[in-house]
Amino acid sequence: MRNSLFRKKSIDGILKDAAEGLNDGHGGGGLKKILGVRDLTYMGIAAVVGAGIFSTIGGAAYHGGPGISLLFVITAITCGFSALCYAEFASRVPIAGSAYTYSYVTFGELIAWIIGWALILEYAIGNIVVAISWSGYFNNLLVHIFHIHLPDWMLIDGTTAFNAFTEASAAIAKGGITDAATLKSYQFAIQAWNNAPVMGSTHIFFNLPAFIIVALITWLAYIGIKESKQTTNYMVIFKIAVIIFVIIAGAFFVDVNNWSPFMPNKFEGVLQGVSAVFYAYIGFDAISTTAEECRNPQRDMPRAMIYSLLICTGLYILIALVLTGIENYSSFKGVNDPLAFVFAKRAPWIEKIISVSAVIATTSVLLVFQLGQPRIWMSMSRDGLLPKRFQKVHPRFQTPSFATIVTGILVAVPSLFLQSGLVTDLTSIGTLFAFVLVSGGVLLLPPKTKEPGKFHLPYINGQIVIPVLVGLFIYGFKERTQWAFSHIGDAFAGVKDASGNIALDHQEVLFLLFLIIAVIMAVLTAVRKFSLIPILGVLSCLYLMIEIPSQSWYMFLIWMVLGLLIYFLYGHRNSKLHKTTVNI
Ligand code: ALA
Repeated sequence: MRNSLFRKKSIDGILKDAAEGLNDGHGGGGLKKILGVRDLTYMGIAAVVGAGIFSTIGGAAYHGGPGISLLFVITAITCGFSALCYAEFASRVPIAGSAYTYSYVTFGELIAWIIGWALILEYAIGNIVVAISWSGYFNNLLVHIFHIHLPDWMLIDGTTAFNAFTEASAAIAKGGITDAATLKSYQFAIQAWNNAPVMGSTHIFFNLPAFIIVALITWLAYIGIKESKQTTNYMVIFKIAVIIFVIIAGAFFVDVNNWSPFMPNKFEGVLQGVSAVFYAYIGFDAISTTAEECRNPQRDMPRAMIYSLLICTGLYILIALVLTGIENYSSFKGVNDPLAFVFAKRAPWIEKIISVSAVIATTSVLLVFQLGQPRIWMSMSRDGLLPKRFQKVHPRFQTPSFATIVTGILVAVPSLFLQSGLVTDLTSIGTLFAFVLVSGGVLLLPPKTKEPGKFHLPYINGQIVIPVLVGLFIYGFKERTQWAFSHIGDAFAGVKDASGNIALDHQEVLFLLFLIIAVIMAVLTAVRKFSLIPILGVLSCLYLMIEIPSQSWYMFLIWMVLGLLIYFLYGHRNSKLHKTTVNI
């Protein structure tokens, strides 16, 4: 049992399986090889720039102030380490399964399954957030440009509507609202609730545009990678042009006084934006799911990942500075469309351009993620961890047809009913988890000889740097560390502080766990001379993970337990490797 759980596939074995998988009678041949480095870079940008920068960073700006630009740098560095590790794997294992396949090579089947399961959070669940954000901006367009008003009950989920109704009713009952805009928005929330159809005692709300866009994108992903590629390229050119325009136009409205204080709520305030900012970066790794559609994956995929990350980082840092320079950070409370928001009063025509661009940007993210998820499932199915249908390739369109439809359903149906904030954190944790394992996995790869034209991750001895950095980290956080260690028993004993909260909350327990892991890794690196970049990847991703609210960790753990159940009930029994092990 143990052997079969942790048995690894050899890289040669994986390449051979994939070649067989393409011709195993489940479809009409292999995937179409048409992607070059430019398409892949576009695809990376297509997947990265979307709901994060157009929506979720509004809240991060409110908590962190201009200091979130620092968080954009920290997150970019973190993603950079992981991108280099992804690139190393991509050059060695040019197969469609992304981190799932990479983990199979290095950690064995169980961890590979766990990663495959976590990647569903990144791609499918992450796309629910994008679809909801798309719907918000699309509705803006309908109202402001086409003057079409859809009924509110078909534009949002029930929880958001109920929360808005409750808050508005309480505020109006209390009275004293002097601001006309606030009063109008409260009246609007109450009206929306009262106008919704009622079944029994339930007010019916759903997000129809989110559902429809996912259905359309699924159709596009189904009919072909070529169509998807062309559409993606056009959308990327447009959204990058708009973002550059916004940066330049926005620079004229910047009031440098807004940059001071740079971190109004200290570094803690900045850290509250971790999930939103990281979410904005997610996506460059999606390139690795199209390995089998690349003409020269070993050369082009690593380059494209790094290019797309660099381009997005530059744009993001500038956007963060411009946003928080135009408006004071305190104005971003509850703002879900920050880019449009800052121009609404100053230059409404720019706001309209941003709304169009946001719809296009989020469409491209949806498309790349809807392309990525089925390809990961296809790889898992080839290994026997999912039913064979998931590897079926459409004879005419040459796309993983069944897996594409299942992905469509998995994203479209929840986007009708779920709240976006609920899934952003979950997506960020799942993705960071995948990044940790990919970075750690590089340490376990066998040495290779350099081949011209293929990416090669340079070995830099981390023996000195890692212990020094971990030491500096502990020094920098010495108060938090001391406090957490001196209250170590509180979380478990239920000791409460003066305000009745658990004295050492679960967030600090995560912090302590991180410190312990960091120290162990520093010692191991000092002894075994581990490679610097992968270790920095592991530690920086772990650090961002522990800064995501602990409530989201519970959801993440529940998701993982569910995944393990499915693995033991289906995947383990049907795994090709397991069958081989049993037969030996
Ligand atoms: N990074 C992608 C977005 O922001 C997921 O939409």
